[in-house]
Amino acid sequence: MMLEGGLVERRKDIMTIRHVNNKVRYVNKAIKKNRSYKKRKDQSVVPSVPEMLQELFVTCRGVFKGSGTVPSPPDVNKLRSILDKMKPEDFGLSRDLEFFKATGAVKGNPRVTNTTIYQCDEFSMCIFFLPATAVIPLHNHPGMTVFSKLLLGKMHIKSYDWVDPVNSEDSMPPNSKLRLARLKANSVFTAPCDTSVLYPTTGGNIHQFTAITPCAVLDVLGPPYSKEDDRDCSYYKDIPYSAFSNGETRVSEEEIEDFGWLEKIEAPKNSRMDSIEYLGPQIIETSY
Ligand SMILES: [Fe+2]
Repeated sequence: MMLEGGLVERRKDIMTIRHVNNKVRYVNKAIKKNRSYKKRKDQSVVPSVPEMLQELFVTCRGVFKGSGTVPSPPDVNKLRSILDKMKPEDFGLSRDLEFFKATGAVKGNPRVTNTTIYQCDEFSMCIFFLPATAVIPLHNHPGMTVFSKLLLGKMHIKSYDWVDPVNSEDSMPPNSKLRLARLKANSVFTAPCDTSVLYPTTGGNIHQFTAITPCAVLDVLGPPYSKEDDRDCSYYKDIPYSAFSNGETRVSEEEIEDFGWLEKIEAPKNSRMDSIEYLGPQIIETSY
C-alpha cells in the first residue's frame, strides 16, 4: 500500500517484498488531477503551497516558545481554530485513497507509519497512518502541549491524567509500580472532527489510539520529544481501579470507572513504527 503524491495504489511488488500488513509511503510523483497541484509553463506538475498549511506553520512559530512553556489560552484557541479548518487535502491526502478504503480482514498487529512534516526545537508536525486495528499504545507527552487532529478515519481514543497523590488517600498506590490516573477520554472519534488539545498535566496527557478503520492523524507537538531535554516517551499499561480496591475506598461506585492504575512498561512491540519521508505539499520556511 503506497501513498503517491496524494494517491494510494496497491503495488503487489512492494506488498510482496514487505509482505507484512499494510504499508504506506509517499513517493515523489505528482498527480495531475489533484487540485493542490498546478502546472508550470514547462507542463511539469508541482505542488502549490496550501494556504492553510503555511498558516499553520507560521502560527506554530509564534505559539510555541520552547522547553518549559505552555501556549497561552488565546494562542491555543488560534492554533485550534486553524487546525479545525484543515482538511486531508492540505497534506496531499484524500478519503478516496486506497489505503483509507481498505476493508479486508487484518492479520496480526499492523504497524503504524509516521511522517514528519516539520520539526524544530520548539515544535514538530507529524502524521501517523494507522491501518484498521493498529494501536499506538498508551504513552505520555512529558512537559508537552499536543494538538491532535484526526484527518481521516475512525479511531478510539483513551486518555488519562495523573492524579496528584498529595490530595487524596485514595490515590495511594497498592504497590510502588502503580500510579493513579483519572480517565479523561474513552470514546470513538470520526473524521472530520474538532482538534483535541492535551497539556503537560491536563487534557489527557497519557493516551492510546486504536484505529477502527484506516486512519490518518496529525499531531502538532510543542516542544517535541527529546531525550536530551528529559522528554522521552514512556509507555504504560492500565489496570482498572477496582482491581486493587479493598472495599474501603472513598471513590464512589459511579466514579470508579473514571480512574485507573497505570504501570510504566518497556516500549511494547506495537509501539515500533515505520518512518517515511514526507513528500506532500511543502511548507515554506519563513521568519515570523
Ligand atoms: Fe501521543
